[in-house]
Amino acid sequence: MPAFDLVLRGGTCVLPWGQETTDIGVRAGRIAAMGDLRTADAAETIDCTGLHVLPGLIDAHVHLRDPGDPAVETLESGTRAALLGGLAAVFDMPNTAPSITDKERLDWKRGYLEGRAWVDVGLYVGASKKNIAELASLELQPNVCAVKVFAGSSTGDLLVEDDASLEAVMRNGRRRICYHSEDEYRLQERKPLFHSGMPHRNHMVWRDVDCALIGTQRLMTLARKTGRPAHILHVSTAEELDLLKDYRDVSTVEVLLNHLTQTDEAYDRLGGYAVMNPPIRDERHMRAAWAAVADGTVDVVGSDHAPHSRAAKERPWPDGAAGLTGVQTIVPLMLDHVSAGRLSLSRLVDLMCAGPARVYGVTGKGRLAAGYDADFTLVDMKRQRTIEESWIVSPCGWTPFAGHRCTGWPVMTILRGALAMREDEVIGSPRGTGVRFAEARG
Ligand code: DOR
Repeated sequence: MPAFDLVLRGGTCVLPWGQETTDIGVRAGRIAAMGDLRTADAAETIDCTGLHVLPGLIDAHVHLRDPGDPAVETLESGTRAALLGGLAAVFDMPNTAPSITDKERLDWKRGYLEGRAWVDVGLYVGASKKNIAELASLELQPNVCAVKVFAGSSTGDLLVEDDASLEAVMRNGRRRICYHSEDEYRLQERKPLFHSGMPHRNHMVWRDVDCALIGTQRLMTLARKTGRPAHILHVSTAEELDLLKDYRDVSTVEVLLNHLTQTDEAYDRLGGYAVMNPPIRDERHMRAAWAAVADGTVDVVGSDHAPHSRAAKERPWPDGAAGLTGVQTIVPLMLDHVSAGRLSLSRLVDLMCAGPARVYGVTGKGRLAAGYDADFTLVDMKRQRTIEESWIVSPCGWTPFAGHRCTGWPVMTILRGALAMREDEVIGSPRGTGVRFAEARG
């Protein structure tokens, strides 16, 4: 019997301790050896000369809409998009229809993803005012990545907006809680200032800097009071990034690809296809987001893939749906940012592998190291390619990044030792399963 099922030969591997050109041997779906394996006996070999070998990249923030509207997205199509885009795992948000807020629905989702998911999946459980007492046990269910709290309203019916309820959520359980942080009171108070048909850029005027900042200030005060770790999702303002540097004892930070890539000119160019929560803002905030990537404030970069039908995106503002697709495009766009010199490939791996592993407590993924899952994203940093809408496999069929030319492209994805995507083709059948977390073992 060969020593290895698979050997990746001669790639530039992005290891936790730096980049090294080395071979990687895989056995039984896990990394078995690293080093010079030229003479090793392998059932299969992939020549990685000229390619970078990254740990399988993770998008910790996607909305796969299942259960929901299959004409927009399903777990199958969304994970296929993830795989084609170079991801090996996604964490799926709970604001589906109906929402994932109890054990029965969590159990259903865990079973449902087997045979349908093309990449591995972590499951969020949603907090509502009705399930606060159950959150401590729900967060320990297998494959649960975190409790998600919408402290400001967005798509769906999940909302926990007042301090007393938020504190009660924090006092039920112990794992890190993920927050959508916009102050609901300010949102509602200022809504009457706007009316249907106003230009889309009013989205960032309504959901303004104070709305995000007040929300995050309130959450930080409560997190410190209760000692409950927090993860502020999609931080979108320079002011919050400044504030959060003073709360590293209780909070970690996510920034979105969109907030690193798009500014308010997008409203004029894309109309409803630029509308998301929290909103795309002016360049000052984008610069602050990049500074926070550079100085280590940011722990995780995600896509917040949030598909909606074209009809829902094309309704006049503010009656349209908020949310942008991104699970298929986050890796090419982040690689393009690497090519442009905005971050290193090692920092990208930190933000999309080590960061999610640390923040959510993933076991066995996020690191090229012996014994870890043999998940790999193989990228060609010389490949140039334009993002086209025809490439998008989410049934909703659109991307706000159509026409964006990328330098750097994911060319292969290997999932637990099996080649799953090569050059735009998915291989075999959906082999995804639940991601494992240290504190959620059932
Ligand atoms: O723009 C957004 N869309 N922000 C969210 O928080 C939710 C998401 C969605 O589910 O559509």
